[in-house]
Amino acid sequence: MDWTRVCRLQDIPVLGSRRVQRRQGVDVALFRTADDEVFALLDRCPHKGGPLSQGIVFGKSVACPLHNWTLGLADGCAQAPDVGCTPAFQVRLEAGEVFLLQSELESLATDLRAPTAGPRIAIAAV
Ligand code: FES
Repeated sequence: MDWTRVCRLQDIPVLGSRRVQRRQGVDVALFRTADDEVFALLDRCPHKGGPLSQGIVFGKSVACPLHNWTLGLADGCAQAPDVGCTPAFQVRLEAGEVFLLQSELESLATDLRAPTAGPRIAIAAV
């Protein structure tokens, strides 16, 4: 397996998150639980693309900051009655270091884009 080190466990706040930038695609959000478990989800809510890394972590879930959907950290899926999942990445935690799979960073959900806020206005070059 092509595990790549991304940070130390202590770089992620307890009940908080940290974003990992990728060469292509939306960032990956790392979440740390109160029990020092680490999970990784695409930083994009399956509802309307909210930044999950800005959400509230509780138990093994995160509440999206935009409309408060609750997503499971292990599978990225919304709690009923909401439906939808955001891609989840495999995580390895070893000796206080956090690893993600390089192959997933390079290929998983790289086609999904971050939402654009507000109308797009074309500006003509002068
Ligand atoms: S965008 Fe996350 S709940 Fe709406």
